[in-house]
Amino acid sequence: MIRTADIIIIGSGVAALQLARQLASGKNVILITKSSLGHGNSRLAQGGIAAAIGDSDHPFYHFVDSVIAGRSMNNHQATLMMTKEAPQIIRELETDGCAFDYDEKGKLALGKEGAHTQNRIIHGGGDQTGKVLMDYLTQSLPPHVEIFENHYVFELMTNEEGRCFGAKSKDASGIHEFHAPHTVLATGGCGQLFASTSNDSSVTGDGMALAYQAGAELTDMEFIQFHPTLLYIQERPVGLISEAVRGEGAVLVDKNGTPIMENVHPLRDLAPRHVVSQTIYQKRKNGENVYLDIRGVDGFQNRFPHITNLCLEYGVDMNKGRIPVAPGCHFSMGGVKTDMVGRSTVEGLYAIGEVACTGVHGANRLASNSLLEGLVYGKRLAKHLQNGSALSFQSKETSEKRNSLPFHLPAKTDIQERMMENVGIVRDEQNLVNHLQWLESFVQPSEWREYDLSMLTFEQMEKMFMLQTCWLITRSALEREESRGGHYRSDFPEEQLDWQNKQIIRQRILEMREPHESVET
Ligand code: SIN
Repeated sequence: MIRTADIIIIGSGVAALQLARQLASGKNVILITKSSLGHGNSRLAQGGIAAAIGDSDHPFYHFVDSVIAGRSMNNHQATLMMTKEAPQIIRELETDGCAFDYDEKGKLALGKEGAHTQNRIIHGGGDQTGKVLMDYLTQSLPPHVEIFENHYVFELMTNEEGRCFGAKSKDASGIHEFHAPHTVLATGGCGQLFASTSNDSSVTGDGMALAYQAGAELTDMEFIQFHPTLLYIQERPVGLISEAVRGEGAVLVDKNGTPIMENVHPLRDLAPRHVVSQTIYQKRKNGENVYLDIRGVDGFQNRFPHITNLCLEYGVDMNKGRIPVAPGCHFSMGGVKTDMVGRSTVEGLYAIGEVACTGVHGANRLASNSLLEGLVYGKRLAKHLQNGSALSFQSKETSEKRNSLPFHLPAKTDIQERMMENVGIVRDEQNLVNHLQWLESFVQPSEWREYDLSMLTFEQMEKMFMLQTCWLITRSALEREESRGGHYRSDFPEEQLDWQNKQIIRQRILEMREPHESVET
């Protein structure tokens, strides 16, 4: 089947739906998702959406907090734009009837999270902001958006000029082609590359690998955020315990009840996430378990109904007020390099949401800036595409492909455990080199694009994308010889001034000739 549209959106999270619903009915819009509408990471978001709407707050303070958390790797122009547009985005959602939480005076309830100097987290359903927002966005999708569920996009189509003109997908009925002048990746991040993660099982880095194969530049891939507090039961993560819990007064303690963040950072339990995660990691490495002491949180069950149910489901005794926690992969700051409206470096290809690197997060994302980024860039890209004129372009593919894989793919759990071990919270040269060799033993990056993935099962396609995105992260982590935000190297434990303004760019064409490319920002 070949279908044509004005705009193809790949993905179905907050950024995808915000874009789709803002495109007017004059546009023929196709949305393709590998799962079904309403599944995925966005729905799992607990904390909320950051916006400077409090009486003593200002977008500039929100900007400063974002840049401090991002260890100054942020694109300042983009970060300032996002924090300025945030209050308006919230007002629009509120006016349209999105069910946020209000305080007793009838004003939006404003929570606090790590590294924020103000209460500015707008939330819904207590700790179910993602669900509330996704329900609202889904029901406000206009009828002219045609939705294809359970379609696995395995290739972006490019013509001889390198322009993207659509995507190929596979579903239970076979192979499909979708042609359009504008193709938007909104596929989310790559949390499932790591054994310990807060992310939905569908979040396997597909969009990053697809963009790389299509020739786009990716950047900041080494910056991976590990959330400090996943609920940890029998040595495995079973869900997220929102940072908002610490924002309401919970304290991280060891088995004796001694606070662990006391002399680590001036913001203690609300220090930036990489600081808290690394502290918990070291404790656990020394054989000490870490708990979240929630006894100081007033009305815990009302404020955090979802977390309460999660804890009860896993047999945590809430009367004791101690929740066992450990860090896990949460967010990718890097991704497809884009401009202020979401354009990638490949003509006709765009990226929004976590798959993109807009520069607003720098080396470490500030809490509750991710739903915000999806909402802001979904809207900006809609405006940009809405005003664009019709384009003509050649839709003829260039390359011949090999139709069998000359190697066996590893187990998904093997990939995840090795990533956690070698490219996780603490990294060093030896582990990164070993891991890179393991990844390259399956397929060399220069050969990825030679394989026709249409013959693979969904599971095999997913593993191919996982291996590729793992390689992009590992290679960049090896090249950045310093520690900054979500990238910690035990062999280079400090931030280095000469890395301050350097971004590592990954692009297929560069990779083939020059392994060490970084650019001054
Ligand atoms: C959380 O609620 O702790 C997660 C929210 C976020 O990652 O911004």
